[in-house]
Amino acid sequence: MSKNPYITTAIPYVNGTPHVGHALDYLLADVYFRFYKEQGIKVRFQAGTDEHGNKIFNKASSLGIPVEQYVEQNTQKFRDFIAKLGVEPTDFIRTTNPDHERRVQLIWDKIKDHIYPSSYEGWYCSGCESFITDKEYEENHGICPDHQAPYERLSEKNYYLRISDFRERIASAIESGEMQILPDFRKREVLKLLETSPDVSISRPKKNLSWGIPVPDDDDQIMYVWVDALANYITILGYPEEDISDFWPAEVQFVGKDILRFHAIIWPSILLALGLPLPKLILSHGHVLANGQKMSKSLGNVIDPIDIIDKYGLDPFRYFFLRHIDTFADSDFTWEKFDAAYSGELANDLGNLVQRLAVLDNKNGVALSVADRQEAKRIAHEDTEYSKLMHGFEFSKGFDYAWAKIQDLNKEINEKQPWTVSKTDIEAAKDILHELTRKLMAATYLLKPFLPTTTNKIINVFSEEIKVPEPLFPKQ
Ligand code: MSP
Repeated sequence: MSKNPYITTAIPYVNGTPHVGHALDYLLADVYFRFYKEQGIKVRFQAGTDEHGNKIFNKASSLGIPVEQYVEQNTQKFRDFIAKLGVEPTDFIRTTNPDHERRVQLIWDKIKDHIYPSSYEGWYCSGCESFITDKEYEENHGICPDHQAPYERLSEKNYYLRISDFRERIASAIESGEMQILPDFRKREVLKLLETSPDVSISRPKKNLSWGIPVPDDDDQIMYVWVDALANYITILGYPEEDISDFWPAEVQFVGKDILRFHAIIWPSILLALGLPLPKLILSHGHVLANGQKMSKSLGNVIDPIDIIDKYGLDPFRYFFLRHIDTFADSDFTWEKFDAAYSGELANDLGNLVQRLAVLDNKNGVALSVADRQEAKRIAHEDTEYSKLMHGFEFSKGFDYAWAKIQDLNKEINEKQPWTVSKTDIEAAKDILHELTRKLMAATYLLKPFLPTTTNKIINVFSEEIKVPEPLFPKQ
């Protein structure tokens, strides 16, 4: 079993610009990463870009740009986006990286016993990079609902991965909790799918797919983009050229609900074929909707996260997505809800409390010592209720828990009225303020993984001599 936690995120296709949906993978992973880092635990956090396949090749061709140049430009957009979210992965992988390409070929060789050639005819969506069943074809009237494009009929020689070699083993790993799937309703969906999942095609003839990693020892075949992409989680650690047991199996792999089946069926099959342990947990998050609808370019309702961050700042963005967007179910983004959370919660509950306490502390000469701050940090780190929520990936509940402490402090300051007490008993007022400030500091440490910038500001304000800050969340 791995010695250190390893956290992964889905690697987006680079055929477009990042949108709020992509942010969810990164934010969830980032919270868990920071939660660990705060405790001084060594952890690796991977992110990257998925750069092969027809979808990307066709987009570059339609723009008249060489595909190499196109992926170069777009991977940079994702890196900039990640930085803008305040997310700092320890590793960033590009699937066009030569180390990755070489390692994927080595992986192919290692799983050869479970691969066989065959010919296939079926309906294919190049948007999904996937064949679909005849039943799905009929249900969708020949048009992919996600890409609004007609399915193509393809007949070709493919290599297949024998999923039937692993189906039962995967199902029992899921049932026993060896490979956990969250949430539970998705776990049940996967178990149902596993009962009938067919072998999967894992290559395409070069004439139909040129932009990808060549199959070793067969000049005519290129690997299916999903095999190449899924392998990223271990090639980035150096597999198979290096020992990865310090970090593999991953502690948690964050993926959107639309790609869970790839991660819960194909990926474990590859791992079992390699003789590697299965990830400990696959967390499948829901989708972000815009005003109740799926976001799409054709509907013109795509929310640009950069617009939100530029207008309100990073932490309000993180606040909304980590507290008000449900981790598992689909949730709605609307500007009205965002504005309400900003002024009603961030500015009212937290911004005002910090401002009031800083003014009162400053006026009454109250300050926190280094020991006070260390004590606040210890209280936060030893909070078992919070830690249980975080380890259970109940991030929005962990956030609620920390927020309740902020709300309690607002009540307490109003009840104890240190500004009134100070008129008659300055020492008593100082004690009240000192106690409230220590409690605020402890709550701040709980909020750190969610709101890194704001909490650092708060820690600075209440360190040593207390300075009155600019409002944390100014009126918009
Ligand atoms: N390239 C594949 C993933 C390969 S992982 C080995 C892919 N890329 S993607 O760009 O389509 O999606 C990247 C991630 O963003 C996925 O986890 C996907 O579920 C997530 N989201 C895309 N749109 C989303 C929303 N509207 N809401 C939340 N997440 C969504 O799939």
